[in-house]
Amino acid sequence: MAKILVTGGAGYIGSHTCVELLNANHSVVVVDNLSNSSEEALFRVQQLTGKSLDFVQGDIRDSTLLDQVFAQYSIDAVIHFAGLKAVGESQQIPLAYFDNNIAGSISLVKAMERAGVFKLVFSSSATVYDEANTSPLNEDMPTGMPSNNYGYTKLIVEQMLEKLAIADTRWSIALLRYFNPVGAHQSGQIGEDPQGIPNNLMPYVTQVAVGRRQKLSIFGDDYDTIDGTGVRDYIHVVDLANAHLCALNNRLNAVGCRAWNIGTGNGSSVLQVKDTFEQVNGVAIAFEFAPRRLGDVATSFADNQRALDELGWVPRYTLEDMLKDSWNWQKQNPQGYSN
Ligand code: NAD
Ligand code: UD1
Repeated sequence: MAKILVTGGAGYIGSHTCVELLNANHSVVVVDNLSNSSEEALFRVQQLTGKSLDFVQGDIRDSTLLDQVFAQYSIDAVIHFAGLKAVGESQQIPLAYFDNNIAGSISLVKAMERAGVFKLVFSSSATVYDEANTSPLNEDMPTGMPSNNYGYTKLIVEQMLEKLAIADTRWSIALLRYFNPVGAHQSGQIGEDPQGIPNNLMPYVTQVAVGRRQKLSIFGDDYDTIDGTGVRDYIHVVDLANAHLCALNNRLNAVGCRAWNIGTGNGSSVLQVKDTFEQVNGVAIAFEFAPRRLGDVATSFADNQRALDELGWVPRYTLEDMLKDSWNWQKQNPQGYSN
């Protein structure tokens, strides 16, 4: 079993990945500055698994701290979640995004090199694909210039890691291009806890359901889709977490840098998500149609064949499961971790 450094491990996807890593008997060291998360998530991860992990509160841009972590723990591989992810905010404070996401990744990779650790799984995003591509999106399709600074940081880090692996063949890097992560651990003990007004659809829906927001604005009803609303590939966060374990396994005996789409391959519209949420949870979601959101595309879903074939990864959860689990988390934790 391996010792895994998880950057950003207290966050939404990181905390679910820690659960799966511990359940698979890996040891886990988390480095997180708690800028968008709570240590409570890590307490709950340990409660859920009955196993302990090591937590170092700190910033990945702090190279002294990273050197200490690599010196103290005999790390085999790194899963790198740490970063900022709010698309709107990235337009207002681009430097914070370049610094956390790009400089942060450079700082991490340099510390890995100093420590002689060359296995890395990086959280990328489907946002790196050129908008001119038609779904299903596959990994051979061209990347483009993302419409926002957040997406730009993902593209830059991907390209940097690709070049690094070409220049130095000791590196073995997985770029996981997530589609739309939703859902929560089935216990309802950990889940997504956005600060402020949610940008993404699912936390907005659950906050309407729990009474924290009045109604959902559906951005656009005139797209060329099944019902005029945007279509996305929603993926259960536990399936996504498991993709990281599969990617780690794949990287054990491989070198180079390779990208995999992590999505179900199914597209669902905003109205389908809203209607299914109401059906499976028996809760009404008040909504109104609003203008299209800048930067949105009509349809985005994955061709996930490469991940199925090469990683041996199989997504298990349906849209119904995702929506039940999202609601289970939100209703047990109406204010997230700050209950
Ligand atoms: P999150 O904000 O819940 O988790 C990120 C974690 O990183 C947080 O705990 C935060 O405190 C920590 N962090 C941020 N900057 C840091 C720094 N400089 N040093 C140390 N810790 C730092 O986000 P998430 O949804 O779990 O996303 C995890 C990763 O996946 C991110 O890189 C994100 O961009 C990427 N991603 C997320 C989505 C999504 O929809 N959630 C989609 C595609 C890609
Ligand atoms: C968004 C980001 C993407 C990022 C991803 C994960 C944009 C343009 N894209 O993807 O870069 O990688 O989040 O953080 O911001 N919707 C509503 N009402 C809402 C919220 C969303 O109708 O209140 C719709 C959107 O128009 C879209 C769908 O729901 O059709 C999903 O939106 P969202 O959850 O924000 O994800 P993406 O737009 O796919």
